[in-house]
Amino acid sequence: MSASWTAPPPMPSKLRTRFLTELDHALAAVFARPPVVPPPDAVLDPDEKRRVGRLLRVDDAGEVAAQALYRGQAFFARRPELAAHLREAGAEEEAHLLGCRSRLAALGARPSVLGPVWYAGGWLSGALFALLGDRTSLGYIDETERRVARHLSDHLRRLPATDTATRALLERMREEEGRHAARARAAGAQPLPPPVRALMGAAARVMTTLAARL
Ligand SMILES: [Fe+2]
Ligand SMILES: [Fe+2]
Repeated sequence: MSASWTAPPPMPSKLRTRFLTELDHALAAVFARPPVVPPPDAVLDPDEKRRVGRLLRVDDAGEVAAQALYRGQAFFARRPELAAHLREAGAEEEAHLLGCRSRLAALGARPSVLGPVWYAGGWLSGALFALLGDRTSLGYIDETERRVARHLSDHLRRLPATDTATRALLERMREEEGRHAARARAAGAQPLPPPVRALMGAAARVMTTLAARL
């Protein structure tokens, strides 16, 4: 007797729409291109461009993950007003990502080839924290955004003094990440336990090392 194949039951249409919307956002983030292609940077020498390109590739990867993180959290957020807050902050991360892409192009550098990995990791971690409850989810945002702001401060210190364009971009991002963290705290963020913070630190180190090279 031959085994007969049965088609899986169709996905309910609302779930299918949400799934396709998430996929659309993922592709838009990973393959984002600036609307205007900037002229090549004439201020930095080739060695400086390479160095700044490496720093910025890490920041760009962080922005891909940040968008995904907010989307994953919004997907499972319990309160509709929190989902709206998360989508709004996620939209600001889109502007950061486009800024990074634009500057990378001017430096003749490329984004990380591991974009799909950064997006998937961000989305899944956001979803996981959202499932642990709204206050824990907000705690994850607070911790992540403060970590990103510290990381941007480090990159700002390492920029060549002449690179005012990258400096302006990173300073604006740092200010807005600080605001995202403050907003999460104001909405009731619960501090994460030290082992979770340590795990996040380890994950961030792996990410920054890989994104700088790949
Ligand atoms: Fe950002
Ligand atoms: Fe942010």
